[in-house]
Amino acid sequence: MGPPLKGREIEVTTGTFAYRVLIEEDLLAETGRLLRLALPPGRALLISDHNVFSRYGNAVLQSLAAEKWQVKTALIKPGEGSKTVTGAKRLYEACIDAGLDRTSPVIALGGGVIGDLAGFVAATFMRGVPLIMLPTSLLAQVDSSVGGKVAVNHPRGKNMIGAIYPPRLVLIDPLVLKTLNNRQFRAGAAEVIKYGIIEDETFFTRLEEKSDRLLARDSGFLAEAVAASVRSKARVVEKDEYEQDYRRILNFGHTIGHALEAATAYRYYLHGEAVLVGMVLAVKLAQKLSCLDAGTAGRINSLLGRLRMKKPPQGLTAGKVIDKLEHDKKRLRGDLIFVLPDRIGSAMMVPVKDMEMIAGVIETYLEPGG
Ligand code: GLY
Repeated sequence: MGPPLKGREIEVTTGTFAYRVLIEEDLLAETGRLLRLALPPGRALLISDHNVFSRYGNAVLQSLAAEKWQVKTALIKPGEGSKTVTGAKRLYEACIDAGLDRTSPVIALGGGVIGDLAGFVAATFMRGVPLIMLPTSLLAQVDSSVGGKVAVNHPRGKNMIGAIYPPRLVLIDPLVLKTLNNRQFRAGAAEVIKYGIIEDETFFTRLEEKSDRLLARDSGFLAEAVAASVRSKARVVEKDEYEQDYRRILNFGHTIGHALEAATAYRYYLHGEAVLVGMVLAVKLAQKLSCLDAGTAGRINSLLGRLRMKKPPQGLTAGKVIDKLEHDKKRLRGDLIFVLPDRIGSAMMVPVKDMEMIAGVIETYLEPGG
């Protein structure tokens, strides 16, 4: 099927869809040719933000034009603030202006915000047009571009309005990670390590050996780590695309992570930074609940420790974080569910009632040594 690829190729097959994820350096310059694997050329809308587009937009547009795609571009302001119903409405106008019909793809070139927003537009415009993902942040490459979660924010909740709408094709160019700023890169690396902890013991061991190469963004190892992460995510969504149960293991570190983000009005932590803290604290909780032995916890902590947790902001208290957790608890109409590792490469969902224990664990982050 189609021209051979020098890099890695992963097929994601769920009960309803199958799509390919291609991972190769310099892939963006071949977007036009590779898109033919999924669709015959025609009209398309490229959605990106000003920052990403100024770097990669021309290469992508040129390769699309060379393969006879007729592409219009819609650029948004970078950042979570654009991921709204109003932002989507503007993009529907752009879809109409670009003359899209139900077979014309929306191409998302950017990080998580672009993928979520463009994906939401693709899922809903004309009841769904093909979605092509060109993720340019590490977080988007290893998480949000695969699995079909698309969404916009509501003033009362992040990702509150959305759908599961799988892409038709995902093209990942690890070369773009070289120019990512360090903070963004490390935040994404937290999610890479997450897969090793919850799902893939071999990958975890490899990361233990090669964490220096990961952090140095060594070309060969980056591509390998992104591919291993995508394979891990694919295995999870293949088992449970609609998050009935098993897919929730991907939320390891997210219970406290989300509460930290919400308690700081989404302005202090990058998502991956909050998830890193959440994972470290979940490991502590797992030990307190006797789910995890000290030796294994030590291995996880030492790998996560390579990323260094962001210090808490002034004035953040355990009470404020617990408030946000209580809000989650109400939303779930019951216990707080934590994803806790029980060994390397495996995690389970554990309801936790003891809010004092949780507060104690949060304190260890807010008052280290206290
Ligand atoms: N980012 C979590 C998921 O895709 O389920």
